[in-house]
Amino acid sequence: MTGPETSGSRPLRSSRWFAGHDVPGFAHRTALRALGLSRQAFDGRPIIGICNSWSEAVSCNMHFRSLADSVRRGVLQAGGLPIEFPTMSLGEQLMKPTAMLFRNLMSMDVEESIRAYPFDAVVLLGGCDKTVPAQLMGAASADVPAIMVTGGPATPAVFRGRQIGVGTDLWKYTDDVRAGRMSLEDYDELEAAAGPSVGHCPEMGTASTLAAIVEGLGMTLPGAAAAPAVDARRYQTAEACGARAVELAWQGIRPSDILTAEAFDNAITLMLAAGGSSNAVIHLLAIAGRAGVDLRLDRFHELAARTPLVVNVRPAGEHLVEQLFHAGGIPSVLKELAPLLHLDALTINGKTVGENLPARPAPDRGVVASLDAPFQPAGGLAVVRGNLAPDGAVIKCSAASEELLRHRGRAVVFADMADLAARIDDPDLDVDADSVLVLTNAGPKGAPGMPEWGQLPIPQKLLRAGVTDMVRISDARMSGTAFGTVVLHVSPEAAAGGPLSLVRDGDWIQLDARAGRLHLEVDEAGLAARRAAKPVAASRFRRGYQSLYVDHVLQADEGCDFDFLRGRSADPGSEPDG
Ligand code: FES
Ligand code: MG
Repeated sequence: MTGPETSGSRPLRSSRWFAGHDVPGFAHRTALRALGLSRQAFDGRPIIGICNSWSEAVSCNMHFRSLADSVRRGVLQAGGLPIEFPTMSLGEQLMKPTAMLFRNLMSMDVEESIRAYPFDAVVLLGGCDKTVPAQLMGAASADVPAIMVTGGPATPAVFRGRQIGVGTDLWKYTDDVRAGRMSLEDYDELEAAAGPSVGHCPEMGTASTLAAIVEGLGMTLPGAAAAPAVDARRYQTAEACGARAVELAWQGIRPSDILTAEAFDNAITLMLAAGGSSNAVIHLLAIAGRAGVDLRLDRFHELAARTPLVVNVRPAGEHLVEQLFHAGGIPSVLKELAPLLHLDALTINGKTVGENLPARPAPDRGVVASLDAPFQPAGGLAVVRGNLAPDGAVIKCSAASEELLRHRGRAVVFADMADLAARIDDPDLDVDADSVLVLTNAGPKGAPGMPEWGQLPIPQKLLRAGVTDMVRISDARMSGTAFGTVVLHVSPEAAAGGPLSLVRDGDWIQLDARAGRLHLEVDEAGLAARRAAKPVAASRFRRGYQSLYVDHVLQADEGCDFDFLRGRSADPGSEPDG
């Protein structure tokens, strides 16, 4: 066959489906003709999959049909054939028990859809928290050329004349209601105002952090992460990404060329400088596992120790991602971080991180600071270890109370979320402001799915007395928009027999976040005796996805991926037909 498939520098993957003058080739071509495509539409030009996580159940991704139209336009302009396909979509707000339970499932859907179909490259459309890592994980394992377009931050809500970040401020207002400082009528007015447009949460929560990370890894075009969901420039960028996907198909630049150890260092540095979500730690570990990069939890501690906060966006700062966009977006941040980055890392536009840096610094130092005059010093995140978390735990120091980062207090233990809900506001609960609240069985296997329960509520009687923060420890995650002195992701988790399951009311616990230490003042013999008296319970799941999940999920320090999904499989596009 002659035509565009020979005009590029390499044979296309799709030619394996469409080039043959035999029964499979005929059947494959018929499938495209049935779409109403003329023979000219697929004359050997690259076929670009548009992997769309649009869903009416996911309001954050509701504009992805029109975003996909922009991608489609770019693909056609560059001489490719766009084929859009759906995958499962994960909505942070509506999925129970937690969207995190389904991240690995969606990643399998994405991987196998890419692998099974005749795509020469794919454009990933993701936005709401878990859709982005699921797509990156799937694309890394499929290792077909891929570029990502994120959905962009939603238009900020305004309540009582003030811009609010839905997550960050919701926590505060909810505490106001619980403490009797806000009426239910006002709370209802807030609810109506809280989601004014499509797009992901507009502060530096998990979705905005992941979008920044996509750009920091080099998996989207420079400047793509921070453009608002409703801004025309997001659509212009989507078009450019569609066109770039066609070039990626010809050039054969794969995720494995981009997702290197250096790229992960860059992305982690960016995340830390932006005060990003602690959830990103887990997702980065999982994506690295797919890409074959040996990323460890301690790398986050090392990079945090030298990376200050230079982005002034909530929850660590004052603004929202929209202001970051107007201050030059992620390229402005990367320019400031240049001394800390691997500038020779390749990005998806074929240039290096260094070559992509903008000529001018950020126009607004109130939003993007210089490395010399940051908003907070280095150390915004810490990994803590000790006999309570032998495989590590994470604390977001930038969202914590400085005076609590070094603390010794007596444990008040909640066996699980139901126990916490039943007792946390009990006036007779034996707790004071120095207590350490401990929640167990909220991890990957325990909950299951490791929900965002880690920011345990302050007991009501303490809230009313003016207490706004306490040390809290769990094997759960917390929302990227939450704040507090909260030790998260304790590994191994309680349900896997971790020492967290052995803590009892009244035990003394020492936290020294800066020193990387989390210690339970019970000696080894005492812990062994408790362990012997408390065998690990068998999983309560007998069938379906939950059963698969609990049997195969890795601990948080390994990214909560399934043990059998790390790395990648062979490309079926290079194997005989089944
Ligand atoms: Fe979808 Fe926050 S709920 S991004
Ligand atoms: Mg979230």
